[in-house]
Amino acid sequence: MATAGPTSHPSASASSTPPSPNTTTNANTELTYDATVAELVPDTATPSDSDADSAFDGTSAASTSLASSILNYEYSNGRRYQGYRSGQYLLPNDEVEQDRLDLLHHIFLLLLDGKLYDAPIPYTPKRVLDIGTGTGIWAIDFADEYPGAEILGTDLSPIQPTWVPPNAKFYIDDAESEWVYGESEAFDFIHVRCLSGSINDWDRLCAQAYTHLQPGGWLEFQEPEAWVISDDDTLKKAENLCRWQQLVNDAASQFKKEIRLADSLKQRMLKAGFVDVYERVVKVPIGPWPKDPKMKEIGRYQREHMAMGIEPYTLGFIGKVLGWSEQECRVLTAKVINDVRDKSVHSYIRFFFVCGRKPQAS
Ligand SMILES: C[S@@+](CC[C@H](N)C(=O)[O-])C[C@H]1O[C@@H](n2cnc3c(N)ncnc32)[C@H](O)[C@@H]1O
Repeated sequence: MATAGPTSHPSASASSTPPSPNTTTNANTELTYDATVAELVPDTATPSDSDADSAFDGTSAASTSLASSILNYEYSNGRRYQGYRSGQYLLPNDEVEQDRLDLLHHIFLLLLDGKLYDAPIPYTPKRVLDIGTGTGIWAIDFADEYPGAEILGTDLSPIQPTWVPPNAKFYIDDAESEWVYGESEAFDFIHVRCLSGSINDWDRLCAQAYTHLQPGGWLEFQEPEAWVISDDDTLKKAENLCRWQQLVNDAASQFKKEIRLADSLKQRMLKAGFVDVYERVVKVPIGPWPKDPKMKEIGRYQREHMAMGIEPYTLGFIGKVLGWSEQECRVLTAKVINDVRDKSVHSYIRFFFVCGRKPQAS
């Protein structure tokens, strides 16, 4: 494991009490267990072109004090990729991609009404691990919100900022390698967000998380399904988008890192031994087409986020795995972005929030 911060891990100290999913104090009134939230109803009253463009701010800087191989970035198609474990992850790590990840963080915050996690954790987490932390934005927010907690973020890319809260630390580490934390370093909360397409063996990931959680500790996945659907058949009009997502999924299967697996996480957690496992599914619209004002706002951001993601997914999955040329990728990208911006298409992606607890005695 290479580190972008101090090498020693603070020792774990939190205790926990088993919670009951039915007695959660979670303030999100939409929260129901093992349920999909209310249907998205299209807004027929507002003119479809009335949505303003979204705006967001994202900044990041490379971490310092790293082994040089980690900073040996690779470049292709005008994008920058990680050098550590080269080729294991297909998406770039440059500023444009970091902006996309930070926008995605904003979408998650809107979905969770400003909360950073969904799990009904009955204690304040004290030792937290964020796997595949990306820009570290979740970990940094968590560290700010819980100054008494120690947060570790790990990733293949050293793209986390240098100036971070003192209780946040970042390490360069491959989540698919053996986790090296000692027994005294066990976590009381592990967070995994948006790692579809990053992980080959999800069962092993769940098992390693289980091993490295304290008894009573919680694991939470926040994972979009990576499959666009519509309830009113309007997606049929978006032929390029439909073709594109099938190609990306085929490439991910060929690469042996599936991207459409969010609906398997609950079973995987149960298999690993977690209890009180629940799954909450939220339909996240692509575009401001729903009537509900909150979902309208989320849809506006998600459309922008999707538009930013088409190029890196096309170049990474369809280009690098299926062998399409850059030119072919760019033509398809332009067509798919057009479909994403088609206001007559009422499409959405299902976001899965899947949480579970390690039993007290195991
Ligand atoms: C889509 S981003 C999500 C980032 C972050 N979790 C978030 O939600 O903002 C996926 C991240 O996982 C990292 N990653 C991919 N494979 C990984 C692996 N095997 N071990 C650790 N990190 C990995 C990538 O470098 C990238 O930063």
